[in-house]
Amino acid sequence: MKADEILSIVDKHEGDRGGLISIFEDIQAKYSYLPAEALKVVADATGRSPVDLYAVATFYKSFSLKPRGKHLCSVCMGTACHVRGAPVIGGEFARQLKVTPGETTPDKEFTLETVNCLGACALGPIVVVDGHYFSKVDSARVKQIIKKTRDGLDEAEIKADRRVYLLTVSCSRCNHSLMDPDHPIDGSPSIRVTASSGREHGWIRLSSLYGSFTVESEFGIRTDTIVDFFCPHCHAELKGASACPLCRAPMISMIVRAGGIVQICSRRGCKGHMLDLNGSGF
Ligand code: FES
Repeated sequence: MKADEILSIVDKHEGDRGGLISIFEDIQAKYSYLPAEALKVVADATGRSPVDLYAVATFYKSFSLKPRGKHLCSVCMGTACHVRGAPVIGGEFARQLKVTPGETTPDKEFTLETVNCLGACALGPIVVVDGHYFSKVDSARVKQIIKKTRDGLDEAEIKADRRVYLLTVSCSRCNHSLMDPDHPIDGSPSIRVTASSGREHGWIRLSSLYGSFTVESEFGIRTDTIVDFFCPHCHAELKGASACPLCRAPMISMIVRAGGIVQICSRRGCKGHMLDLNGSGF
C-alpha cells in the first residue's frame, strides 16, 4: 500500500457529501479491503479520529477490514431464503470451497459470507457473486455457480452490454408488478416507482426498454444525484446488493417477470446496469 495513492483518493473526495464512504469505497476497490495503514493515512489527512473511521468501516457490511478474495460470494440467510433452504446452500458452498463463512480460500479466489437479506426475497434462495444474482438456488447448482464465477463475467463485459430488451418487472420484495401501461415511455409501458432525493419525494417513471435511459419524474433531479427508489405497493426500498460497476453508487434491483433480476444505478445520469436472466448463463 502506498500512502500517496491513499492521499490522492482522499483529495479526490474532499468536499463531497458523504466523502468518507466514497474514500472507503475507492480504497476497497483498489485493495479488496480497508488496510489498517490506509485508515491511518485517511485519519491523518482528514483530521478524523481512528475510532470514527473504524465505526464507519464496521457499520457498513460492504466494507471489510480483512483481505478478501477476488470474488465475493454472499449467501442470503434472511427469513425468506432461510425457510427455502439457504442453510443447506451455504453449507454446500462451504464444502465446495473448503472455507467457512467469513473466510477466504487459500488461492485468494473466493471469500464466502452469509448476509441477512439481499433484497430479492421473492426469488429466494438468493446468492450474489460479484454483484450478480443467482435466484432459486439449490445445492445442485452451487458447483455451476462457482464454475461460472471462475470462468468470469467481468466488468468490461458489463460496460460493453448493448442488449436491448423489453422488460416486465416487479418489486423484488413483494413481487407486485411495477408496470404502468397508462403512461408509456419509448412506446412501451413505463416502470413506475416512488423515489426520494434530499427533501423531494414523488413518483419516477423509467423506460422498460433495457438499454434506454429515458426517465420522467415528478420532481427535478440533478445529474449526479443518488436517488432512493421504493416500491409504490409495499414501500420497501429497492436497493440491490451491489455497487454500480461504473460509479460505485448503490444499484437498485427489480425482478424480471420472465425470470431474473435487473439492476440499474441509482445515480442520475449514470448508465451502469446489469441484467441477470435465469438460464442465460448457466
Ligand atoms: S431474505 Fe433473501 S433476499 Fe430477502
